[in-house]
Amino acid sequence: MQSRFDKLRRTHLIMCLLVQMCSSELPFSRCFSFINMQVNDGSAVSNIQAVVGSDVEGYDKIEAGLVNTGASVAIEGVLVESQGSKQKVELKATKLTLVGGTDPASFPIQKKKLSREYLRSVAHLRPRTNTFGAVARVRTALAFATHQFFREHGFVWVASPIITASDCEGAGEQFCVTTLIPSSHEDPKTPLSKVPTTKDGLIDWSQDFFGKPAFLTVSGQLNGETYATALCDVYTFGPTFRAENSNTTRHLAEFWMIEPELAFADLKDDMACATAYLQYVVKYVLENCKEDMEFFDKWVEKDIVTRLTNVVEKPFVHVTYTEAVELLQKAKKKFEFPVKWGADLQSEHERYLTEVAFSGNPVIVTDYPKEIKAFYMRQNEDGKTVAAMDLLVPRVGELIGGSQREERLEVLERRIEELGLNKESYWWYLDLRRYGSVPHAGFGLGFERLVQFATGIENIRDVIPFPRTPNSAEF
Ligand code: 4AD
Ligand code: MG
Repeated sequence: MQSRFDKLRRTHLIMCLLVQMCSSELPFSRCFSFINMQVNDGSAVSNIQAVVGSDVEGYDKIEAGLVNTGASVAIEGVLVESQGSKQKVELKATKLTLVGGTDPASFPIQKKKLSREYLRSVAHLRPRTNTFGAVARVRTALAFATHQFFREHGFVWVASPIITASDCEGAGEQFCVTTLIPSSHEDPKTPLSKVPTTKDGLIDWSQDFFGKPAFLTVSGQLNGETYATALCDVYTFGPTFRAENSNTTRHLAEFWMIEPELAFADLKDDMACATAYLQYVVKYVLENCKEDMEFFDKWVEKDIVTRLTNVVEKPFVHVTYTEAVELLQKAKKKFEFPVKWGADLQSEHERYLTEVAFSGNPVIVTDYPKEIKAFYMRQNEDGKTVAAMDLLVPRVGELIGGSQREERLEVLERRIEELGLNKESYWWYLDLRRYGSVPHAGFGLGFERLVQFATGIENIRDVIPFPRTPNSAEF
């Protein structure tokens, strides 16, 4: 068989395809002595129609009922102008090989409307559906555009660690890392590894990470800052973890974050970077994933293409937290959570601001009360607020959270003490302020929320291949 990396653009084709139930047609419809099959190789939403005549080698497999939805086949043939009205070209098969069959009685992805909730229970097979294929392709395009944007702007990619001793956000929402001690292989009855325990049989937390406490990172920001203060502009892009027991459509226990960090920069530079980045990646997807975006526009969120085009073309709105609170207090809508200065904005408030108050435009809210934000944010002159920013978008709410960082050693030390954080564990972070401190700023963007925003998919569990949420780590 020809390698898939060889040039396939020639008259005689050999294609490896999955027979799918994703077209609006039945996969096979009999017409005289021909069978029309809808096949898909994963490169696009649309299937290609393969016409297999009764004289073609392999036709007997179809007649015997062995080629069903979900089967994988290799088809050799010629691309010809289609006789049908639904497609321009079709594959006139000269040979069909059944590579892997399916049992139609038990195959879980049959051709009928399957709810996304059901598809989560078959996460190993759901990429075979149109929707999940399109999400995977758009996700890839967004990741590619992310690297391209930062590369074009001279940023260096920093691999921030997944295992860490520090809690960047100071919220205590961390998963603990435990070392499994390999047991003796001499006794086949003992398990290969066991959790370290004390004499009383309790878990020995002092053994967490070879004797030291360690956690899965909630954010790569602090590590990013170390490189920004050396190389100027950097970004991280990797998995992050939050041990929050949130069962919402926009929270995951494991999600990917993109965290640029800019040296010699203030909050305004940070806002400009966030705006340019978001517009760039959205434009990239609109230009490079046209067919997938048309699919989302038709089947997932009507007019998503128009909405995203506006994001690229219109300037983002900017309000301060104080202005946002005033706006929300004047709103006619009854909110579940009260709006008062000093309280964090809830998802319903964020969505009201971007969807109703500013008619679908992304909104950047700045200068939040210091009590509701993290220790590292730069304090404003008023003594009450910090130079923070959240970027809110329709349907998702908070997409980006960022700030100018506190670069003044004594102010940062005071804040760490006020909040009762363990100053010793931040010694290396404080060193960045001791030696050649510079104003710097950055932000974190939740990559899955970006995929939600770009595809219109409502639940965050459906934009990551294998979602990790409370009680869900099966696949
Ligand atoms: O606002 P957050 O908590 O900010 C930080 O972690 C900063 N250290 C980022 C920085 O300045 N470098 O998180 C940033 C973004 C949020 O705006 C949201 O998009 C996403 O990360 N996020 C989540 N996404 C999915 N599931 C969760 N549980 C998330 N928590 C945050
Ligand atoms: Mg936040």
